[in-house]
Amino acid sequence: MNKTENQMLIIFGASGDLTARKLIPAIYDLYKGKHLPENFIVLGASRSNITDKEFRNKVVHESAFLADDVSKEENNYINEFSDKLFYEDLGDDYDTDYDRLSKRISDLNSKYNTNNNYIFYLSTPPSLYEAIAKNLCDAGLTDESDGWKRIIVEKPFGYSLETAKDLNTGLQKYFKEKQIYRIDHYLGKETVQNLLVTRFANSIFEPLWNRNYIHHIEITNAETVGVEKRGGYYDKSGALRDMFQSHLLQIVSLIVMEPPINSTAEEIRNEKVKALKSLRIMRDEESLYTNTVKGQYVASKIDGKEVKGYREEDGVNADSRTETFAAIKFFVDNWRWKDIPFYVRTAKCMPTKVTEVVIHFKTPHHQVYKDQDIANMDNKLIIRIQPDEGILVKFGVKVPGQGFKVERANLDFQYSSLVDSNIMDAYERLLLDAMQGDATLYARADEVEAAWAFVDPILDYWADKNVKTYGYSAGTWGPENADQLLEGDHGFRNPGPRLTDESGFCEIN
Ligand code: BG6
Repeated sequence: MNKTENQMLIIFGASGDLTARKLIPAIYDLYKGKHLPENFIVLGASRSNITDKEFRNKVVHESAFLADDVSKEENNYINEFSDKLFYEDLGDDYDTDYDRLSKRISDLNSKYNTNNNYIFYLSTPPSLYEAIAKNLCDAGLTDESDGWKRIIVEKPFGYSLETAKDLNTGLQKYFKEKQIYRIDHYLGKETVQNLLVTRFANSIFEPLWNRNYIHHIEITNAETVGVEKRGGYYDKSGALRDMFQSHLLQIVSLIVMEPPINSTAEEIRNEKVKALKSLRIMRDEESLYTNTVKGQYVASKIDGKEVKGYREEDGVNADSRTETFAAIKFFVDNWRWKDIPFYVRTAKCMPTKVTEVVIHFKTPHHQVYKDQDIANMDNKLIIRIQPDEGILVKFGVKVPGQGFKVERANLDFQYSSLVDSNIMDAYERLLLDAMQGDATLYARADEVEAAWAFVDPILDYWADKNVKTYGYSAGTWGPENADQLLEGDHGFRNPGPRLTDESGFCEIN
């Protein structure tokens, strides 16, 4: 187990939603799990004029996200936690001199013995990253001579390849790459990490993990919710930037990558970058037309309840063409994956919340027991990222009785069956990693840039008004023509809420 040294976590944007919703609950879980070092404090910083006490009330005592714990636990136990939290008002602007902030950090550091080890967590718009990094540097807060300094930045990491490069160069002026932690909460999910273990800690999967045995791979990421209160942000972003460029390409890289030499952060990330660089970038109009489908949800009724269409959502342009559904087919130009199609789709307002990877194996080269329905009868390995996390293998068994009729059977493993399964929340796990200086589950600059290099031409193509945005009723599996991306008789597998549900699920009434 790695050691967690005494330290201070300084959160920029501390009065925002992420701090109350994710960060403080994750730190509370670390406190409960006794993972915090002996000396640990949090200093929230943002532009609200509030006191330490008001901050503690907001993010702990009166927070809806900790309400269960606060009501269950003894007051003393909760107070001991909230006493670790402090707040500093930065004034009107993040881009100001940090002398006062620096003084506060230094006082707290002396009083609580945090050994000059600081993590700066930027939960602010990316446009502020460089200015904050510069001001920290000017105030001497990036200097590592007396203790380490790390910076965590949130997504979106750029808006395009060019802006991502600018952000990287901006941050790297003031922090070394090894001090920079780019958070992608999907990498904090147990099941995403388990992709590495499934592949590289077993001898039964890896020999089949290539073009000789795999027919195609699909990844579905579906959410039941629409854009909720984030219409303003989402309308400028869309599904490709919001989910595909980051979370889904991270999953792709773990499926595509070669075995790393060992499990260190650099070796794993080297292989991931190589994987991302081997995705065939689609540049010509014909490939982009044939291999991409863009959709947007329209109003409908789900379980008798009216659901707004995307264009009616707050903050969204009434004639917006931003995609809430994206399906992309692509190939990987390397020895292992030549000619094997990958299909990835992501969307809001779908029938169920699910993220899964489906590896479809080729049918036996010589068919002894001839099956008619090849698409449904192939061997599949389904890796369920969420919910009902687990792994399912679909394989053929003999139907009892005369003759040799073959039926599909399921072999499944569910995480919930592990007795000792205290699954850490993604933010909890990632924060603890950064506190211990382990960047394995954080994205490196070159990874982020390789992902943008693949996504950029699709975004440019989709920005053209002549490219169709297909409507789909909220609560359905997206525009029908997305299935036409798949070669042969295959279509996307539409999974249910549980791992072992048969596909084809749709909840709309
Ligand atoms: C975020 C996106 O990064 O991930 C959201 O900005 C999306 O739009 C969310 O809803 C999905 O995360 P999860 O963990 O619920 O699958």
